[in-house]
Amino acid sequence: MKINLANIKKAKKLLDKGDCVAVPTETVYGLAGNAYSDSACNKIFRLKKRPKYNPLIVHYYNIENLKKDCELNDNFFKLYKEFCPGPITFVLNLKRNSNISKLVTNNKKTLAVRFPKHPLTRYLLKKLYYPLAAPSANLSSKVSAVCSTDIKEDFGKKIKYILEGGKTQIGIESTIIDLRQKPKILRLGGLEISKIKKILKKKIQMNINSNKIKSPGQLRLHYSPGIPIRLNAKNVKDTEAFLLLKKKKKMKKNFFYLSVDGNLKKAAKNLYSTLRKIKKNNYKSIAVAKVPNLGLGKTINDRLIRASKF
Ligand code: TXA
Ligand code: MG
Repeated sequence: MKINLANIKKAKKLLDKGDCVAVPTETVYGLAGNAYSDSACNKIFRLKKRPKYNPLIVHYYNIENLKKDCELNDNFFKLYKEFCPGPITFVLNLKRNSNISKLVTNNKKTLAVRFPKHPLTRYLLKKLYYPLAAPSANLSSKVSAVCSTDIKEDFGKKIKYILEGGKTQIGIESTIIDLRQKPKILRLGGLEISKIKKILKKKIQMNINSNKIKSPGQLRLHYSPGIPIRLNAKNVKDTEAFLLLKKKKKMKKNFFYLSVDGNLKKAAKNLYSTLRKIKKNNYKSIAVAKVPNLGLGKTINDRLIRASKF
């Protein structure tokens, strides 16, 4: 991808002033602000209408920058080496002398961190003297944004600048793993658990449905397109949108497919944009055909289940 330096400069200028800017990552767009600045973080919560108890992920350029803020451990080094930059978020212990704004962590002693892969945002991060707090660039509890039009749809002109980076490559948020003690998955995401297992060579606990909210991505209603969704549908009414993993030979007007051939990676990439499209086409409900529960299919199902708690 060609890097437009003037755009990066514009984003940097606003961020340096304490403003928020939407930035592309390989997963979804983030609504970014200086993670060391209380006022910048405050703006993020306000814009997203996000409850203050829901902490933010902080984005770093590399490990050197992170060392100032978090305690690192062996499991972290192993996963960092293999997957970063990439779609994985680590929950670590915050260092006592870290400059991270207390708003980011809701005053807690842990921090979620990640190293995004999109070349524009990497370039931007390299130029900054602070890391970026950036939740997904959507209104709280709604579907994440995978392109700049999605962001405009949610926020209108309220966000001063969007660093244009095209449609995101993965289309679904990062996998979150708590590495403070025994590795524990807090959110399924763009990196399959089997790949993480292979590197850590040990059992990984799953904590994606806990009632005690560690990661409010675990909240009951999340990723919602704003209309009811029913899962594992075999039949569909004409008034409903029918969401299919794979294109059918006979497609009807109300049929929407996530991939031509049933490929789960492509389906994940198209999930949020298709949900938005259905809503824009004024359907009042969605019937979803079964998606196989393996690999990224697990992440797709996780999001659909949460979105169906409407
Ligand atoms: O792919 C992604 O992760 C995207 C891009 C923009 O990086 N970001 C994203 O952020 O999905 P957000 O805020 O929409 O989701 C982050 C999740 C939230 O559910 C939050 O509760 C959880 O991470 N989280 C943040 N800090 C945490 C912490 N210290 N411990 C546990 N969970 C945390
Ligand atoms: Mg989000």
